Amino acid sequence: MPQSIPVTRVSHSRLTEALRENSEFGATFSDHMLVADWQAGAWQPPQIVPFAPIPFSPALTPFHYGQAIFEGFKAHRTANGGVALFRPRENFLRMNRSAVRLAMPEIPESLFLDGVAELVRTDRDWVPHREGGALYIRPVYIGIDDTLLVRPANRFRLIVMTCPVGPYFSQPIRLLAEERFVRAFPGGTGESKAAGNYAGGLLAARLAQEKGFHNVLWLDGVGRHYIEESGVMNIFFVLDGKAVTPPLEGTILPGVTRDSALILLREMGIPAVARKVSIEEIVASHDSGKLTEAFGVGTAAIVAPVALIHYRNRDIQFPAPVDSSVATNLRARLVAIQTGREPDSHKWLLAV
Ligand SMILES: Cc1ncc(COP(=O)(O)O)c(C=O)c1O
Repeated sequence: MPQSIPVTRVSHSRLTEALRENSEFGATFSDHMLVADWQAGAWQPPQIVPFAPIPFSPALTPFHYGQAIFEGFKAHRTANGGVALFRPRENFLRMNRSAVRLAMPEIPESLFLDGVAELVRTDRDWVPHREGGALYIRPVYIGIDDTLLVRPANRFRLIVMTCPVGPYFSQPIRLLAEERFVRAFPGGTGESKAAGNYAGGLLAARLAQEKGFHNVLWLDGVGRHYIEESGVMNIFFVLDGKAVTPPLEGTILPGVTRDSALILLREMGIPAVARKVSIEEIVASHDSGKLTEAFGVGTAAIVAPVALIHYRNRDIQFPAPVDSSVATNLRARLVAIQTGREPDSHKWLLAV
């Protein structure tokens, strides 16, 4: 039996319909957060408390040495009137893989899954009703020592907050194939959801945005040939009627949406494989007419069709998605499962 988690409720909820249905992605937080500390070698009991700033020492571990990881997944309203989390156990497992990589204690499964379920139950009125809306769940896990010694912290804190969100991108995305900066390299932290990976990617993204792109297409850190990710999403190409995505070899974040897409595409009769794809192959397959689509996949955007990839002096353009596009159908399938409009044959939903 999961232990019950004490809940200290806010005295006045900040919830309004406008906040729930119209907030910018990640800018509005629901009333409560889950907090659990690890200290003296053990996890302390978690609590749900009002969402509020936390006091910190200027010497706090993540400020100096970046011992910080996070996760991201969603709860949706379902056709039967309930609320369900989409594949939360995958995020739990990925968070613990990230924890191990950053020399942080692993989180017990019940603390994470029961804690998140109780938090979403507490703030269930914050789950948007609008089409494409969801409650985004953001666990963050940090060292909380106040020492400048370079070593893993002795104390850690897990905080889970939630945000009502709508659809992420409204139009097909334009990507710049990035040759100067890299996101990850073999032996690094690319497959972890380490906060520092994101800091390292911000400049490239900003420079690309200044040139009119939405984000960068990351290439491999060794030779700048193999495609890795699309901004903060995994990427798929449709080549000769087959869906292709780069393989997980340590530098790519193992996306839950990527994994779900591989499974659903095969069910939809589209062969789907993970294999290395070079930017040179993408240019050549575009020229020969074999390359018909590219799309990013991730929790926030779900499926984001790519309109254009710029590489050196070339623009690789893709037609606007139509009803028969692989991206359109994959998105519809995923959303139908997440919102309980299609049977959950994979047991991907966890009702709260
Ligand atoms: C770098 C990166 N790649 C891929 C993804 C997609 O992963 P998921 O489908 O689990 O959201 C994310 C988002 O979490 C990400 O930050």
